[in-house]
Amino acid sequence: MSSAITRSTAALQRSCRQAHLVAIKACQSSSEELYIGTRPLEADVCEIPLVAEVSGIEKDIFRLKINEETPLKTRLVCSGDTGSLILTDRKGDLKCRISANPFKIDLLSKNEAMISINSLGKLYFEHLQVPHKHRATKGNGQNTPADTSQEDQEDLGLWEEKYGKFVDVKANGPSSVGLDFSLHGFEHLYGIPQHAESHQLKNTKDGDAYRLYNLDVYGYQVYDKMGIYGSVPYLLAHKQGRTVGIFWLNASETLVEINTEPAVEYTLTQMGPAAAKQKARCRTDVHWMSESGIIDVFLLTGPTPADVFKQYSYITGTQAMPPLFSLGYHQCRWNYEDEQDVKAVDAGFDEHDIPYDVMWLDIEHTEDKKYFTWDKKRFANPKRMQELLRSKKRKLVVISDPHIKVDPEYTIYAQAKEQGFFVKNPEGGDFEGICWPGLSSYLDFTNPKVREWYSSLFAFPVYQGSTDILFIWNDMNEPSVFRGPELTMQKNAVHYGNWEHRELHNIYGFYQQMATAEGLIQRSKGKERPFVLSRSFFAGSQKYGAVWTGDNTAEWSYLKISIPMLLTLSVSGISFCGADVGGFIGNPEEELLVRWYQAAAYQPFFRGHATMNTKRREPWLFGEEYTQLIREAIRERYTLLPYLYSLFYQVHVSSQPVMRPLWVEFPDDLETFSVEDEYMLGSALLVHPVTEPQTASTDVFLPGPNEVWYNSKTFAYWKGGCTVKIPVTLDTIPVFQRGGSVVPIKTAVGKSTGWMADSPYGLRVALSTQGSAVGELYLDDGHSFQYLHQDQFLHRKFLFCSSVLTNRCANEKGHYPTKCVVEQILVLGLRKKPSSVTTHSSDGKVQPAAFTYCAKTSTLSLEKLSLSIGDDWEVHVS
Ligand code: GLC
Repeated sequence: MSSAITRSTAALQRSCRQAHLVAIKACQSSSEELYIGTRPLEADVCEIPLVAEVSGIEKDIFRLKINEETPLKTRLVCSGDTGSLILTDRKGDLKCRISANPFKIDLLSKNEAMISINSLGKLYFEHLQVPHKHRATKGNGQNTPADTSQEDQEDLGLWEEKYGKFVDVKANGPSSVGLDFSLHGFEHLYGIPQHAESHQLKNTKDGDAYRLYNLDVYGYQVYDKMGIYGSVPYLLAHKQGRTVGIFWLNASETLVEINTEPAVEYTLTQMGPAAAKQKARCRTDVHWMSESGIIDVFLLTGPTPADVFKQYSYITGTQAMPPLFSLGYHQCRWNYEDEQDVKAVDAGFDEHDIPYDVMWLDIEHTEDKKYFTWDKKRFANPKRMQELLRSKKRKLVVISDPHIKVDPEYTIYAQAKEQGFFVKNPEGGDFEGICWPGLSSYLDFTNPKVREWYSSLFAFPVYQGSTDILFIWNDMNEPSVFRGPELTMQKNAVHYGNWEHRELHNIYGFYQQMATAEGLIQRSKGKERPFVLSRSFFAGSQKYGAVWTGDNTAEWSYLKISIPMLLTLSVSGISFCGADVGGFIGNPEEELLVRWYQAAAYQPFFRGHATMNTKRREPWLFGEEYTQLIREAIRERYTLLPYLYSLFYQVHVSSQPVMRPLWVEFPDDLETFSVEDEYMLGSALLVHPVTEPQTASTDVFLPGPNEVWYNSKTFAYWKGGCTVKIPVTLDTIPVFQRGGSVVPIKTAVGKSTGWMADSPYGLRVALSTQGSAVGELYLDDGHSFQYLHQDQFLHRKFLFCSSVLTNRCANEKGHYPTKCVVEQILVLGLRKKPSSVTTHSSDGKVQPAAFTYCAKTSTLSLEKLSLSIGDDWEVHVS
């Protein structure tokens, strides 16, 4: 696999170098457009004018587009004069200074350069060409002329690339584009998922570039920059006082080189002593290269991490609000064999008193891997099976991959074939490749008509055996093509609109998830929220559901790397993400399995999964000691659901990730910038999962010198800004609540989220050093769009201030009938035993409340309360 990666990476880098173009002419047209003429370095014969369009769009976002003036395939019209220009935002804080000769853009904040574009002169743009004599070859390239000169051969190398038996013939020749960005004063960069790499991006000077190319990589290497299942061509740079983002909107194979020049202090001897010392700011250069497409890049100027998250979601969309059940625990395996097996596993959870929400069926549930069908023997009565799950208030997820078995008897194949809905090979026939069913064709999800048709397949009468508790998993959608180049589709396959696969490879899976989500919405006549898990993704996939990190391995290193991988996805807009619990490949030992459950209980998407030929690993198969530990971890997850659901509402409406690296919450604290073994869940909980075997203690960094942190189990507390050694046993999940926060929880756990709708709430109030705390709760029916269309939701705000806890409405628009009460309140960090506690309802009723106080842990505990969650009330502590 790695030799394949090297081949392709090298080819793209070589292609970019050979196509080096220089700006020779620049004209200003309006305040938004420039001409940049280009020619190959060594030749002065062909001068291809490029047009650069710079626009300031809303929310402090700048967009730069560079295209040929008259490309063969698309056109961008403009005219203009020579010059340079400056765009300024309304407040005058931000300036975009554009000069044409040489072509350079500087983005300044308060007259200090933040980002410079093309300051290293790496702009290149290979123009599309009409095929010439070399293009006598077609398809498999077997007719290559034998008598070509060396020069011709080299040229031919740009037009054709060989990969094993495959010849990639480029319809319009090499077409790569690239550009450099210098980030002044920045040395901490994040983003560009998906790689099994550290959260903070590394220097690529002496190694591989980060590759964005969606590929099926079974058991991928950890700490490697190879492209795996999904790509988001977006990175963030952060320093004290400023966060910025660069979104490179391009779905072709992309490489990103990163080079940080550290800050240097030097002395100017010729100057006087006072001015003697100068400091050159550090700088990070980012070089983006894509195999094709145009240059279309968005610069997000922050200034805070929260602003950048909003700016990015303004362009690509926010995280879809998930149905509540999908935040519960998911039980998957390749495969649960038959209905009986499903029944037994489902019963196992009840017998062992472990909550879970969703049973999953992998490819073997189908008839010969024909999606939308059921294996007649193993799943003879899929509706009966779903009714059983429904009776437990649980759901079913089944797999639906993008490859369609070539079988004229298979209705879906026949219909798609007849309507021309498959991706084509360069000769114009349907592309055929091998995947799970054997010979398959691939639906062309880039065609809106195909998406519309695919969506219609989920309608209940069409999808036989499906019910409204069935949801969908899109897998193998990079797309995976066994025996294809790098296990994917060849780049000269042809899509709707005559686009070559190379142009849109990285967005293929995105479109499948889009069509699937749309199908699930449509089958409910627009009423119900969908749940779709996708392996492949692109910028914006957050609008359609969840993603996971693919085929990981049951080893400690994979547990450890799941944290930076999920943090990277989270800051790149995709909050609903997870890693297969236990590791998909291999058999985890008990300790690893327990630690994995504990970590994932505090991560957004929580699913246990294992490949075939692994030992069964349902939570109760390892002896009571381990069952108890896994039960505890899963139950903690269910306890926390109100908080987690509220965080999903927050990312849905205001783009703040659910799982956050520490630097997001502590943007001025340098020490947090490289932390990736712990993270924040929302702004209230710090989680430091144990990811090493036989751990007796773990060092937890508690940030913020003005913060106070409470151990969520023992209630012991520490002032922030230090690292503390926490003793751990196998039942310890190091979780700390930040002083100043209120976390809503459920006090009783049921069989699944559905059983817990009316169960009581608890509030965990952790006081700040000033003795105050705030928090929120969002709640709705958990499954429909009524929250959106009819304002059927409750959004409450809790505030503890001057010894009074209040529950108030946070959004007057919302209304939702609920019988739920707050039954328990825990106040952490109350230094003095109160003499009395009273509850005050909105109609003026005052009642004393029984309480206990623990002086050792400074904890006040109120039990057996009955304060309606949806009403205004106060609790006075005096
Ligand atoms: C892929 C998926 C895995 C799934 C298997 C069979 O390997 O990543 O999760 O179980 O295919 O469908």
